Amino acid sequence: MFWPIHLSCLLALLPLLGVVALTNTNDFVALKALMSNWDNLPPNWDGADPCGSGWDGITCTNDRVESITLASINLSGQLASDIEKLSELQILDLSYNKGITGELPSSIGNLNNLTSLIVVGCGFTGQIPPSIGSLQKLVYLSLNLNNFIGEIPASIGNIPNLFWLDLADNRLTGSIPISKGSTPGLNMLVATKHFHFGGNLLSGDIPPQLFTTELTLKHLLLENNQFTGEIPTTLGLVRTLEVIRLDRNLLSGAVPDNLNNLSSVQTLHMENNKLTGPLPNLTSMDSLNYVDLSNNSFEATDFPLWFTSLQFLTSLIMENTHIRGELPVSLFSLSQLQTVVLRKNQINGTLTIGSDRNNQLKLIDLQNNFIDAFPTSDDYSSVEIILVGNPICEEGITEDYCTISHDRSNDTYTSPKQNCTPLQCSKDQIPSPTCQCAYPYSGTLTFRAPSFSNYGNKSVYESLEQALMISFKSHNQPVDSVSLSSPVKDSVGYLKLDLEIFPYSQLYFNWTGIERIGFMLSNQTFKPPHEFGPFVFHGNAYQYFAGYTAGSRKSSISMGVIIGAALGAFVLLLLLLVAGVYAFRQKKIAKSASKRSDPFGSWDPNTDSGGVPQLKGGRSFTFEEIKKFTNNFSTSNEIGSGGYGKVYRGTLVNGQLVAIKRAQQGSTQGALEFKTEIELLSRVHHKNVVALVGFCFDKGEQMLVYEYITNGTLKDSLTGKTGIRLDWSRRLRIALETGRGVHYLHEQANPPIIHRDIKSNNILLDDRLNAKVADFGLSKCKPMSEQDKSHVTTNVKGTMGYLDPEYYMTQQLTEKSDVYSFGVVMLELLTSMAPIVKGKYVVREVKEALDKSKNLYNLEPILDPIVASNMAPGSVEKFVEMALRCVEESGSSRPSMSEVVKGIEKIMDVAGLNPSNESASTSENYEGTSKGSKDPYANESLLSYSGSESK
Ligand SMILES: *[C@@H]1O[C@H](CO)[C@@H](O)[C@H](O)[C@H]1NC(C)=O
Ligand SMILES: *[C@@H]1O[C@H](CO)[C@@H](O)[C@H](O)[C@H]1NC(C)=O
Ligand SMILES: *[C@@H]1O[C@H](CO)[C@@H](O)[C@H](O)[C@H]1NC(C)=O
Ligand SMILES: *[C@@H]1O[C@H](CO)[C@@H](O)[C@H](O)[C@H]1NC(C)=O
Ligand SMILES: *[C@@H]1O[C@H](CO)[C@@H](O)[C@H](O)[C@H]1NC(C)=O
Repeated sequence: MFWPIHLSCLLALLPLLGVVALTNTNDFVALKALMSNWDNLPPNWDGADPCGSGWDGITCTNDRVESITLASINLSGQLASDIEKLSELQILDLSYNKGITGELPSSIGNLNNLTSLIVVGCGFTGQIPPSIGSLQKLVYLSLNLNNFIGEIPASIGNIPNLFWLDLADNRLTGSIPISKGSTPGLNMLVATKHFHFGGNLLSGDIPPQLFTTELTLKHLLLENNQFTGEIPTTLGLVRTLEVIRLDRNLLSGAVPDNLNNLSSVQTLHMENNKLTGPLPNLTSMDSLNYVDLSNNSFEATDFPLWFTSLQFLTSLIMENTHIRGELPVSLFSLSQLQTVVLRKNQINGTLTIGSDRNNQLKLIDLQNNFIDAFPTSDDYSSVEIILVGNPICEEGITEDYCTISHDRSNDTYTSPKQNCTPLQCSKDQIPSPTCQCAYPYSGTLTFRAPSFSNYGNKSVYESLEQALMISFKSHNQPVDSVSLSSPVKDSVGYLKLDLEIFPYSQLYFNWTGIERIGFMLSNQTFKPPHEFGPFVFHGNAYQYFAGYTAGSRKSSISMGVIIGAALGAFVLLLLLLVAGVYAFRQKKIAKSASKRSDPFGSWDPNTDSGGVPQLKGGRSFTFEEIKKFTNNFSTSNEIGSGGYGKVYRGTLVNGQLVAIKRAQQGSTQGALEFKTEIELLSRVHHKNVVALVGFCFDKGEQMLVYEYITNGTLKDSLTGKTGIRLDWSRRLRIALETGRGVHYLHEQANPPIIHRDIKSNNILLDDRLNAKVADFGLSKCKPMSEQDKSHVTTNVKGTMGYLDPEYYMTQQLTEKSDVYSFGVVMLELLTSMAPIVKGKYVVREVKEALDKSKNLYNLEPILDPIVASNMAPGSVEKFVEMALRCVEESGSSRPSMSEVVKGIEKIMDVAGLNPSNESASTSENYEGTSKGSKDPYANESLLSYSGSESK
């Protein structure tokens, strides 16, 4: 008798091939809350299954959201504190979305599994929440280029494996926190390689305690702040340092001698401070490439000869540092030297460059010194020499070294284009280096401490282009080519470059492409060639996802869609074939058995008798009859609609009101399934379950005729739509009656039925406010006698907020899934709160607020005031306990429906309400019908398994 059920179960397996809604409920709820605070989200952020349906920028492991990467998509709004609920989140990258403003929520500290928190170039304001220090797994923390204010939270010192700490370019104040007693500090960050704090308003001393021999810091960037005091001697302990930027502060005193110990330092910036004492001796910094000591108050000194022993020196910048005497000719024979800038000193005598110089040397800028001779017999045509403001350039001298020929900061470079005839690209498109018109992703690369200074050298940019391409290719990014242009040295000495990234064989990137490329650059997956040093990318919002011309959009985007659809259709076809063959075989088997066991074969649905289907109490109606009942399906009788079709109110000949669910074209099911459903529904008889009156299977129509329940859904009453006031005793009774209905389906219906969609919208109230469970349509697949009886594997059906997380995850349906949903309804009865509203999930809210030591378990603030106003002592607490048992994570910890029913009976007993009493009266509290009220059937599908009404 159950063979049609086998078939439908087979069909139910369809979604298991990757179409199943998988996402964890809490994660989905949290994402919904984030979404409600954001604009300009990727268009495929839709539906109820972020993991299963592959929302752009979301990656999951199984059902849990593991990363959110949304760089450069012009996202705006605020980061909701609900982010904390994504408890398995490891990566959060919101970089390059200027429109994201407001504070970084403190709740972010609850994301135990977070390894990367990257919000470069957003519009965050307020303080950096100290809770960040709780993120024990954090490796990358990039908060740079925002508007953060306040102090650096000392708690950051608690993050044991922090590798990257970038707080640059904010408006942070105060000093660098140091541990003291139990107070943490940044000196504890022994694993951290990068302190990037430049471009803030930090002040105070650079604390000596910050530096210890245990530190493994590579880049110390403190430039462009307001630090005062001396450079601490302890800095010389951090032997791992490669880049030190202390420039553009108010540092004073002498540079400690032991800095000289830092033999790995390649780039050293101390310019624009108030340093005094002797010019630091850097003899032992034998990796030094770039040194800038300009604009300090060092003691006057002859040009130190030891500079000529720094074999890797590319750049010597000492403007206004009281250097005197003659420059040694050996300086210019350093093999890597590119730039010497010694403006505003007291260098005198003859400038001798010699013939031994390397061809990298590009600039010798000695403006405003006392040089009075420069033998021009040497060929210096490849070097720019500036002697303006020296005696040798006294008035009337017109040698070219006495003019400033051009602005060095204006060395231009643009990635060359392959030989191609000049392209006419349409609006906003740009020709790529490989001669394709396209919409590139663009932004600015900023190098905070390059170790070279010859910005006119093509080959460094070429090596950067190559490194970018290699990196993109090795990470399978859809990149065709990159273009660099307009290198400039900005006022802080950063090298800035425009970067354009062109899509591979497409006109534009899709959302995923931008987010992935943005992430590669924001989280430093891309490593530029060594001489570029630490960098930050600042992406522009990508605007071209939609494509600008409809034609081009179609040709590129729809291809993927077509392929996807074709694939999907193929799989579907295959399955239907399998199912068809299976059904055919079953049919044959059935036919060969007795005629009686194939009643459908002789069933004429046009006859009124309806005798052939094994109905117990239901009637078969003809289409003509239904037409009469509903006054030809008049719109005035339309009381609801949904994806499956419409619901009409009808009046039978005997005057009984009915609700008729009419499947629309495309929502109908096969005759076998329909027959199975009506057979099943007709066997269900319980006063707390909506009864099937009959059906119509005629003229290609499929309709179910239910008893009409006058007072609408429980939800409508809880939300005040119906005007029915439900006091606490009434709510207890509704819980009890609903529980009894569900209990009946589980344990007394034959075959047993798992409802799968218990919710306040599916609980109807009749004229005496008796509760009746509705829409248990094809809630079957339960009885497969020869299989494991304890559960059924099937596609997930249900409604977000009520859905059992265990079922969602495992897709193994048991009665306990209904128990979970029932528990949610119980909480709804207590709070009158929708299960999910504005990112609040009632289960979580109650669990969090719960404090058993307090009056009403501390739940008074979230109880519906009607409940709180009139209740028997202790009943709410007991009810909450029962509800929370129902919503236990694990099904095995939940009570059965019979236990639940007994529990509620006991609560009512104790409260002096007789649980065996019928509902007392007609709706005495009825305050008038609400015309706009949604029909109780409106949300339900005719065929419940085809309904996916999760929202
Ligand atoms: C996430 O954190 C929780 C608790 O801190 C832990 O149980 C779980 O294993 C973590 N998940 C991963 C993927 O590390
Ligand atoms: C600089 O330091 C080196 C080693 O640290 C030392 O040998 C040398 O004498 C110093 N030079 C000056 C001029 O102090
Ligand atoms: C250069 O200046 C130094 C003092 O600063 C002086 O002793 C020396 O004689 C000067 N040399 C020439 C060539 O003027
Ligand atoms: C940069 O150089 C170009 C030509 O070499 C010149 O036209 C332009 O004015 C320069 N820009 C600046 C800011 O000096
Ligand atoms: C986005 O682009 C990538 C690379 O071109 C491609 O693999 C992916 O399928 C695209 N996604 C969509 C939704 O088109």
